[in-house]
Amino acid sequence: MKRYIPVSRVEGTASRQAHCDLPAGTYEREMSKEGFFGPAAFFHHRHPPTGWTEFTGPLQPRAFDLAKLATGKESPWSAHEVLVSAHCRIRYWRLPGSMPRLARNADGDELLFVHAGTGEFYCDFGRLAIEAGDYVVLPRGTMWRIESGAPLDVLMIEATNSSYQLPDKGLVGNHAIFDPAVLDTPRIDVEFLAQQSDDAEWQVEVKRRNAVSLITYPFNPLDAVGWHGELSVVRINVRDLRPLMSHRYHLPPSAHTTFLANRFVVCTFAPRPFETDPGALKVPFFHNNDDYDEVIFYHAGDFFSRDNIHPGMMTFHPGGFTHGPHPKALTRMFQQTKPATDEYAVMVDTRDALDVGAGAGAVEWAGYVDSWKGRP
Ligand SMILES: [Fe+2]
Repeated sequence: MKRYIPVSRVEGTASRQAHCDLPAGTYEREMSKEGFFGPAAFFHHRHPPTGWTEFTGPLQPRAFDLAKLATGKESPWSAHEVLVSAHCRIRYWRLPGSMPRLARNADGDELLFVHAGTGEFYCDFGRLAIEAGDYVVLPRGTMWRIESGAPLDVLMIEATNSSYQLPDKGLVGNHAIFDPAVLDTPRIDVEFLAQQSDDAEWQVEVKRRNAVSLITYPFNPLDAVGWHGELSVVRINVRDLRPLMSHRYHLPPSAHTTFLANRFVVCTFAPRPFETDPGALKVPFFHNNDDYDEVIFYHAGDFFSRDNIHPGMMTFHPGGFTHGPHPKALTRMFQQTKPATDEYAVMVDTRDALDVGAGAGAVEWAGYVDSWKGRP
């Protein structure tokens, strides 16, 4: 049995409500446990906590332009490794045509996020049409291949040695944000049966302990004529998400959790109205992400808290310092010019420190750490 040391105090000149009614001229910083779920303190600072003039050493906010990484690879296991830990492996993959071989991940569940392109996804469970904005969750061990319509750019997020699950939706219930009935599953349809073959040779690239083995069959092993059960590949598009919001309170990113693995969460930022209460923050609050490394992949739209960030980029904020809005975004802290956000982004928050993969350094935007310079 253990519990956090109980403290509840209001000290000095302070608001009693997080993210609202800040003392005039101050900037709020949250310091918390368990991401945004544990005990937290909210400081009211005279200066933006990101107002550094220099930030040197290995701990820095970093940004990568993954679109520049995207040399085509016909195998997902050749995709560029971007950020990696023992529990989470993030890759970026451009598939120029169709996959000549099947893939199978024996290391963990895989989450594909289709950033661009279209294709036909064939797997043990049948056929699924995929397009930009799709999340496709692959249970560990699923055999699959893609016939590409338009070249695909795919963010791959491996839940190493664990499984993707859904968050408990708590007070708002199981059908909020998205209804489980919205999840699509592959179908055993005419096209799926037509791709089956008794005499064509097919190979499966199996990834286990991050090494690839090749299994050759004298037939197409995607040859199921049917299946039943409670486990399948599922697909949902970001357009199907109906994000939580409050007109009086800036909800933390955890309100936008889409999938959970053992040691990380995947959240989706989708367009939503700005808060309207005059005292409520309209931009993300400054916070230390001390328990998590934070990764955001920018998919589409206009990213309201970031200058110089375009679709296909990824930012990486390792735990250990405070981050928050850029100076320009801060000028709209309480007054936005637009009625709603216009952004789709995928966030991955990991409990374990991530290492930058081999390819990512080549597409790094070295000026990112300085992008908070200048006063609001
Ligand atoms: Fe954050």
